[in-house]
Amino acid sequence: MRRLPASRPGDPAGPGIDPDELPDGLVVADEQGLVICFNAAAERITAIPAAEALGRRLDKALPLEDLEGRRWWQLTDPYGGLAIRVRQPERNLLLPGGREVLVAARYVRTEPTGPVHRVVVTLRDTEARRRTERSHAELIATVAHELRSPLTSVKGFTATLLAKWERFTDDQKRLMLETVDADADRVTRLIAELLDISRIDSGRLEVRRQPVDIGAAVGRHIQAYVAAGQPADRFLLRLEQPLPALWADPDKIDQVLSNLLENAVRHGEGTVTIDITPTASPREGEDTGTSVTVSDEGPGIPEESMNRVFTRFWRGSKRGGTGLGLYIVKGIVEAHGGTITVGRAPGGGAEFRFTLPVAAPAYLT
Ligand SMILES: Nc1ncnc2c1ncn2[C@@H]1O[C@H](COP(=O)(O)OP(=O)(O)O)[C@@H](O)[C@H]1O
Ligand SMILES: [Mg+2]
Repeated sequence: MRRLPASRPGDPAGPGIDPDELPDGLVVADEQGLVICFNAAAERITAIPAAEALGRRLDKALPLEDLEGRRWWQLTDPYGGLAIRVRQPERNLLLPGGREVLVAARYVRTEPTGPVHRVVVTLRDTEARRRTERSHAELIATVAHELRSPLTSVKGFTATLLAKWERFTDDQKRLMLETVDADADRVTRLIAELLDISRIDSGRLEVRRQPVDIGAAVGRHIQAYVAAGQPADRFLLRLEQPLPALWADPDKIDQVLSNLLENAVRHGEGTVTIDITPTASPREGEDTGTSVTVSDEGPGIPEESMNRVFTRFWRGSKRGGTGLGLYIVKGIVEAHGGTITVGRAPGGGAEFRFTLPVAAPAYLT
């Protein structure tokens, strides 16, 4: 009884589509205004059982009100109203009990100004939309908060220096300027990370693929740490040869490596081990990608937090950081068609492993 007459298999309208498969609520009334279809999504959204709605008049079966409390069907009067009206644009209406729902309607006429033959109503839940709005609001609040603390410090120190320049020694002034410098760097970095996040979230992250020597890339990062004063034996790079060719975006891969190594050095302890291995496809026994594992001997990620490390702004320790690094890392890896996982290293610390498919450009495969 819920099935639309026009959706029977073999009908000229095409193959049978079960209205219950639609993600949106669907309510259809016939030329007399009696409900002939009330799909599963409509039941879920309105909490009205289909059995109760079917065969009743549309205005009784689906008693919608606008935000001022007026009865919507009387207001719009699909069967009476203007004989040329064909639709009602989507709007926010209230169900009995005050639940909000997005409603749009089409008035189907067999002739342009003829009587309404059918009224087709779609219902959409506003809950999902509200959830995204809430998460945007939370993101803005967090970002504002993150920007405020370094800016407060910049403002505080510059104001103090300007007001009392002669009263400070050169060393004191240097210390304050160094703090200002570090805070300005923090703001710049935060903004760069936010731009990356906005590209990742909107699917605009561009991957410009070219051959990447991942072993050499990791080697360069290690050299930079050693040049900056880390003991050389803090790092152990193990390369399993031969590796398949890797086509990836070198700058973005550098960003991934730099985040994972920085985390291992800053949040972890002991030796940071980087293992680079080919990943074999279980079916053909061919190399299908490259897998990079970064592990350390620090405290690791607590089991209960492992599913949160890749979310925005999640920070486990108090050591600086914005909590955006791993979210960006995951976004970059996935934009390459790869995957990333977190686990516990054999030595007890954190272990991050990402796998990138070979992904040679189409003209080479
Ligand atoms: N190697 C690691 N060892 C221990 N904890 C880590 C490690 N890597 C990441 N974490 C935890 O995950 C959190 C999120 O990491 P990330 O997204 O890079 O943010 P950030 O480094 O800016 O804090 C860190 O704050 C830290 O608590
Ligand atoms: Mg980090």
